[in-house]
Amino acid sequence: MASETVKVGIVGCGNISGIYLKNMSQVFDVLEVVACADLIMDRAKAKAEEYEGVKARTVKALLADPAIDIVVNLTIPNAHAEVALAAVKAGKSVYNEKPLAVAREEGKELLKAAEAKGVLVGGAPDTFLGAGLQTCRKLIDDGWIGEPVAATAFMMGHGHEGWHPDPEFFYKPGGGPMFDMGPYYLTALVSLIGPVRRVTGATRITFPQRAVTSKPKYGTVITVDVPTHIAGIMDFANGAVGTIVTSFDVWGGHLPRIEIYGTEGSLSVPDPNTFAGSVCVKRGHGNWAEVPFTHSYAENSRGLGVADMACALRSGRAHRASGRLTYHVLDLMHAFHDASDSGTHVTLESTCERPAALPLGLRQGLLDE
Ligand SMILES: NC(=O)c1ccc[n+]([C@@H]2O[C@H](COP(=O)([O-])OP(=O)(O)OC[C@H]3O[C@@H](n4cnc5c(N)ncnc54)[C@H](O)[C@@H]3O)[C@@H](O)[C@H]2O)c1
Repeated sequence: MASETVKVGIVGCGNISGIYLKNMSQVFDVLEVVACADLIMDRAKAKAEEYEGVKARTVKALLADPAIDIVVNLTIPNAHAEVALAAVKAGKSVYNEKPLAVAREEGKELLKAAEAKGVLVGGAPDTFLGAGLQTCRKLIDDGWIGEPVAATAFMMGHGHEGWHPDPEFFYKPGGGPMFDMGPYYLTALVSLIGPVRRVTGATRITFPQRAVTSKPKYGTVITVDVPTHIAGIMDFANGAVGTIVTSFDVWGGHLPRIEIYGTEGSLSVPDPNTFAGSVCVKRGHGNWAEVPFTHSYAENSRGLGVADMACALRSGRAHRASGRLTYHVLDLMHAFHDASDSGTHVTLESTCERPAALPLGLRQGLLDE
């Protein structure tokens, strides 16, 4: 490895850690994973054994290691803020899995602490940097659909207790379909259209208890503590009007994932929980046409946002999956729930810039030309 690699320590070696370890070790030249940690030491050891140069450590030892530049925080949502804040206090930049934190206050505190320490904070999702969503971004920026008028986003499903080995956290604060899946949809919308000015929403819990049908916790009953069907309306700062529905209470649907409607045409956006998918555009009364990807990273490139953060650390440029973006998304997700509880519109306190589009023609593993 070249000496200028940015050293990464992973905290949280559960379900999603495998793809991060693989991509950060094998795809992105700028990154070098040197350590991993988990409350359950055997999990850290098992992951470390898969990759040369990765050592299993306790969380404390990992955070105390001066060689580590970025902590990639893949713990459960409830632990995101605590682990991230400890990492920032130890002088590390932090990339959190989504959501940034559970409470707004935790997110704010994290951003403030990072600023004071001069480190970067940001996080998932990074799918908005993938080939599908960057192609959509280019079409919008190049004027193919004119000025955005409206957007729709739908995530209609029945939850994760049928496949995830430990699904309880999906039904606790920081979980639910909005906090779990909303970040993909909202980050994509903010990247494509811009920040949101105000929202309103309606929520419900249809199934107050859920039985786990995956292994090894088959038959365990989970008490649902958060809304599991959330409908929201968004006024974007640029005047576009968005509609989002996220649900764990339905048995699927035929709705598109995301569509964006402009003064000149419509754009069909692929599933924002993937890096690829089909991008289609319809101009005026013309027919829908599929558009080939303009950008790289069509495969599962989780870790792309970490590599972008590493490049930003090296060059001093802004990073894309930033704290301001992830905080705005967190603020939005709360705002839908608050609007439903209070029966009003909620004006967002936060805002952010649209993250810069990725350059065209990047070689696999690179983020800058
Ligand atoms: N599983 C997926 O497909 C998926 C996809 C995208 C994003 N995510 C996100 O990734 C995160 C992790 O999800 P997962 O599915 O891997 O969960 P998981 O339960 O499989 O793994 C989480 C791991 O974090 C460890 N952990 C929890 N608190 C900790 C702490 N304070 N210190 C150290 N380790 C701690 C747990 O022991 C566990 O091994 C969540 O935020 C989730 O939203 C998951």
